[in-house]
Amino acid sequence: MSDNTLSSRLYPTRIDIPAETRVQIVRILNQTLAASLDLKTQAKQAHWNVKGTDFYQLHELFDELAGELEEFIDLVAERVTALGGYAVGTARAAAQNSILPEFPFDILDGREYVAALADRFAPYAKHLREAIAKTDDLGDADTADLYTEISRTIDKRLWFLDAHLQAAAVTNGNGSFGNKTQQPATVR
Ligand SMILES: [Fe+2]
Repeated sequence: MSDNTLSSRLYPTRIDIPAETRVQIVRILNQTLAASLDLKTQAKQAHWNVKGTDFYQLHELFDELAGELEEFIDLVAERVTALGGYAVGTARAAAQNSILPEFPFDILDGREYVAALADRFAPYAKHLREAIAKTDDLGDADTADLYTEISRTIDKRLWFLDAHLQAAAVTNGNGSFGNKTQQPATVR
């Protein structure tokens, strides 16, 4: 059964939001669920494998990010079920449906890990902001509020990640991160 079909599956519920609207909201929420699961495992990947002089603080920060995402995963999945929908949240489904790229396996030091995560938190933050507007347009203020809560935290976390990279950008005098394409790290 395709994930789109699964996202259209509704159980009988007494909630006062029309079924056609709920199906649309559940589809958006299941996209978020996939991206959140994907991003959480990527934050853990960074937590485990980061190296360099900033190892300890980054190791701790990346674990905090993963922990927050774990909470959002549960909130999003349970909003799906509160709407009478079916939460699509296995690792395979997440890999198939996530809007995010795979984590780079050829990086080594802290700065590269921070940049890789920032490159993924940014599209995730954009997705959340779009979801606030879409669910608000669909008349579901509660889901829009949930997205707003998550979005505010993710924007803050993107700032935490970007702040590690901003000093170099200022030093370079260009004020932007420019081309974010990762250069493969030298394997030592
Ligand atoms: Fe750990």
